[in-house]
Amino acid sequence: MYELLYRWGLTPWVAAGRAQSALVERLLDREEAWHGSTVGRTLVDLGCGTGEHSLAAARRGWTVVGLDASAAAIDKARRAADGAGLAVRFVVGDVRRLWEVPGLEPGVSVFVDVGCYHGLRAAGRRMVAEGVGRLAASRSSVLVVGLDRRPGLAGVGVTAEGLGADFPDWQVEPGQVFALGGAGPLGRARFRGFRLAREA
Ligand SMILES: C[S@@+](CC[C@H](N)C(=O)[O-])C[C@H]1O[C@@H](n2cnc3c(N)ncnc32)[C@H](O)[C@@H]1O
Repeated sequence: MYELLYRWGLTPWVAAGRAQSALVERLLDREEAWHGSTVGRTLVDLGCGTGEHSLAAARRGWTVVGLDASAAAIDKARRAADGAGLAVRFVVGDVRRLWEVPGLEPGVSVFVDVGCYHGLRAAGRRMVAEGVGRLAASRSSVLVVGLDRRPGLAGVGVTAEGLGADFPDWQVEPGQVFALGGAGPLGRARFRGFRLAREA
């Protein structure tokens, strides 16, 4: 479905994403303080879409891998990175099978997920957690931004309890609720940014 939406330019999350970008910048400030430095540290952007947050992280010195199932989105992300003169590796792949993504090695310091995990079904979410657990460095963190609500039967959303169940070895910190603003369909929805941390 996302592939078609990208091809047709029906991507309200890109249009409404400025508030999320500001949030991601603030979250990255905190990660940089916690990890001490970005130098030589890998950040993986799960469901990176057209790569806005990947590029923001690369500008701050992280070694970035952006992963998305949509070839159209990855194509746009690669062109944006070229245009900005940034070296980001963008890969087409499935966040539910991180261990199969070529070149994605263990030792990842930060995973960022803006709007991907919150739309997966329960089994897919657990598979994301499994892959993250396999690839995470001994001191690592995961930033998850999603709709602030229980997913329900066919729904989209993320809660601290759900994350805690999927990521049992991680400490979950729920952040502030925020709205994207603007006139689009997502403008008034309530989002929340969560942070998970693990020191093995
Ligand atoms: C709402 S968009 C958010 C994109 C981007 N993170 C942003 O903030 O602009 C969700 C993204 O997750 C991707 N996605 C959904 N399921 C996926 C999966 N199983 N594996 C990889 N990417 C997936 C979609 O292709 C889409 O780009």
